Amino acid sequence: MYHNTIHQRIKEVLWRSQTGDTIKDSPFYDRLLHGAGAIRELYLEIYRYHPLSELYFDQLIEQLVQSYTIRPSWLKELDMERLDRGYWFLDNGLTGMSLYVDRWCTNLAAFPSTLSYLQDLGINLVHLMPLFQSPLNESDGGYAVSDFRQVNPRVGSLEELKTVREKMTAAGMHLMLDIVLNHTSHRHEWAQKARAGDRKYQDYYYMFSDRTEPDLYDRQMPEIFPESAPGNFTYIEECRKWVMTVFHDYQWDLNYRNPEVFLEMLANIFFYANLGVDILRIDAPAFIWKEPGTTCQNLPQAHILLRLIKSCVVVATPGMALLGEAIVAPSRIMQYFGSGPYEARECDLAYNATQMALQWDALATGDTRVMLAGQRELTAKPYGTSWITYTRGHDDIGLGYEDHSIVEARFEPTAHRRFLQEYYSGEYPGSDALGALFSVNPKTQDARISGTLASLCGLEFALRQGDRDHVELAIQKILLMQAQSIFVGGIPMLFAGDEAAYTNDYSYLEDPGKNYDNRWMHRAVTDWDKNAFVSRPDTVEYKVFTGTAKLIGIRRQLSCLADHKNIKWLIANDPRVACFVRYNSTQRVYCLFNFNKGAATVDWNMIKEDAGEAGPFFDHWRGTHHRLALEDGSTLPGYSFMILECLST
Ligand code: GLC
Repeated sequence: MYHNTIHQRIKEVLWRSQTGDTIKDSPFYDRLLHGAGAIRELYLEIYRYHPLSELYFDQLIEQLVQSYTIRPSWLKELDMERLDRGYWFLDNGLTGMSLYVDRWCTNLAAFPSTLSYLQDLGINLVHLMPLFQSPLNESDGGYAVSDFRQVNPRVGSLEELKTVREKMTAAGMHLMLDIVLNHTSHRHEWAQKARAGDRKYQDYYYMFSDRTEPDLYDRQMPEIFPESAPGNFTYIEECRKWVMTVFHDYQWDLNYRNPEVFLEMLANIFFYANLGVDILRIDAPAFIWKEPGTTCQNLPQAHILLRLIKSCVVVATPGMALLGEAIVAPSRIMQYFGSGPYEARECDLAYNATQMALQWDALATGDTRVMLAGQRELTAKPYGTSWITYTRGHDDIGLGYEDHSIVEARFEPTAHRRFLQEYYSGEYPGSDALGALFSVNPKTQDARISGTLASLCGLEFALRQGDRDHVELAIQKILLMQAQSIFVGGIPMLFAGDEAAYTNDYSYLEDPGKNYDNRWMHRAVTDWDKNAFVSRPDTVEYKVFTGTAKLIGIRRQLSCLADHKNIKWLIANDPRVACFVRYNSTQRVYCLFNFNKGAATVDWNMIKEDAGEAGPFFDHWRGTHHRLALEDGSTLPGYSFMILECLST
């Protein structure tokens, strides 16, 4: 919508900063005029009552101009290309991997030499886990940032990061980095100044002289790491104040009521955008606004701030997509894509943590009914947004899906979750999963799960037993889990090590900076001698790597697997089987997954009902042809799947 007063205001800002001439004929200027109305409304929703609100609004406009002005020309071209294409990140050609540079290849200088390995697997998007400065032993895996612009010298330099970006671009690869929006390290310059008593910087955080307000907050705020970091406030001796520390005591929560904090962090976002980041992962966005008397999660103001960030990015650096790392209940997650007039105008991507957890549910129970019940909410995702799909990441696996999905499947929620916790921590009789419980909350009995994909699928157990058949079964489970997350819609994101069947690494227990956090057991340190086995037939590494690469290749080949809100879940007559169809105007692909150890009956009728007289079919996974009529009554072996393209569509 055109706002004349804002237009005049923009002209004044440009005139004062003498940037008008350079940008007035640019596509940026059109975008600025088009987007400024929304930016102002969103900004005022949060900062209207701040005494310096107008001053900071002008600074916000200046920052947009500045960020665009210094944006490298190749990125400006990419912006235009992506705007022309529209929703570039829905593409079925994108497949990612998350990795810690130091654990993967020691440092950034060595990283380019590993690109061909990634490409052999089919990866063209790399999430480099946080690599900006962060104090050793107080880093939360890099999520406690002490300088948002300096690369951690332990992994390299900013120049080396730029070289990595160039080499990735030359290889046709995309880059994802994090912005840790919710907090800084207590060693960040702002925190140091606040600690020393500087009022300006104390206002960058939630700091209180006594316990009155912290007590008010604490009444409703859950604890995130109840075992290793109980409580939400930390007393700072030097300034005699309590500071809010929702995660660890060395991670101080930023105060977004202060517009200066917003502007500083927006400048950091543009700094990353101008390095050439394709997808910016916004860490922990659910937490960025706090209000006493609430859980301080998912508050409406958090969404306004995210929309404001998105609106600013759309103007200045529109080629960069935003991923909101909101690991929240399914009913909440949808809000991160935006709602009402902001539908599909908040985060472009979100983790499908619900689907991930539902897959683990189905694998443990051998029953897909909870997964099916969970889809109603998930398929309501707005057009133009997408998921990151995964079997696991660097964090724990939370069983955060709704109780009603469990009830619908005729299980009792508390007992069901307890079963899953016991199953994956290997305590349940007969379970071959070797994981561990993370962040057990004795008050609520809540607990999440750590462990690598391979160990949770029974590979570590099978190798310990020296049982070859069991090893094969574990490999089947690994590929089943990967297959579903690769075909269910969204950008698949593998976690480094899973492609080569890494089992748990218990060495974190010897490291004082890590031994309080068992998530490190599934953050593999790459052993390139082991990874060399991926090209040696008959090894476990080879089977998992080539199987995963094949799945990625199939997805890339089938255009209906791009995420255009084109999935329909079908109800199988056998609860062991999950089935959905992905489609577009020229293709229909039926994906069937048997989550049970025993063979299941394939419900051909459900496909017939969906596609009329469709067929014959080609199974891209096994390379076999099928005709429904002939196949009536056929079975899907335990832990196997079919990717059936309907050839007559
Ligand atoms: C995110 C990260 C997690 C980290 C937390 C605090 O959830 O994924 O690893 O501990 O934020 O920054």
